[in-house]
Amino acid sequence: MGNRRPLIAGNWKMFKTAPEAADLASRLKSLLHDLTDVDVMVAPAFTALGVVADIVKGSAIHLGGQDLFWEREGAYTGQVSAPMLKAAGCSHVIIGHSERRQYFGETNATANRKMKAALAGGLMPVLCVGESEGEREAGQTFPVVKGQLEGGLNGLDAEGLEQATVAYEPVWAIGTGKTATREQAQEVHQFIRGRIKESFGEGIANALRILYGGSVKSANIAELIAMDDIDGALVGGASLDAESFAAIARNAVRPVKDHS
Ligand code: 13P
Repeated sequence: MGNRRPLIAGNWKMFKTAPEAADLASRLKSLLHDLTDVDVMVAPAFTALGVVADIVKGSAIHLGGQDLFWEREGAYTGQVSAPMLKAAGCSHVIIGHSERRQYFGETNATANRKMKAALAGGLMPVLCVGESEGEREAGQTFPVVKGQLEGGLNGLDAEGLEQATVAYEPVWAIGTGKTATREQAQEVHQFIRGRIKESFGEGIANALRILYGGSVKSANIAELIAMDDIDGALVGGASLDAESFAAIARNAVRPVKDHS
């Protein structure tokens, strides 16, 4: 049975200079100092990892990268590796975000290489999956998500999956203010957990945290987290403001659920 602690993760995307990120992190640290039942992670831009790491050190706020490259080091101008993220203080890394897929050529195959590199480097990967509006309208949601999941997790073993998190982010709900209904999200989360169960077994499937992402706000997190297979959120816009992100984390304390 899964007894999954909620995880609320903030993806700061290409927002916040290092000084701005430091300010946001300090405010979050003080707003969330007494939060105990929810895990929190923030993923600033690479240039702000150092300052944010210093601020959140010793607090319950975890640090994540927004992407990585699969090689450990080498002549790859502009890239950042797992050991670099780890040394910067990251415990997590976001992989395969739809914006990386849309603008930077990320595929299921490259996401898979990054998943393996993250795990080899001792980072906990957050694999993002999700269909576009056109794919949903064409009734392709499940096949698309299945392909992204199978592609991204290809070749991973149970031990790897124990470190991983999946984020379901329907592309049509990202930054649009159009949140999936909790039923729409739950249906896909349940589908994802079912596929994980088939491939990796029931224990892993029950323990895996599946986050929802797409226009999450303090006003809708409670109804999302109350669903059986929704274990937290990957938050974009609302994570850029300390008060709104802290309110999301506070509202993510869910009613006691029996996952047996
Ligand atoms: P929004 O919360 O701004 O919709 O972004 C979601 C997202 O892409 C998080 O990774």
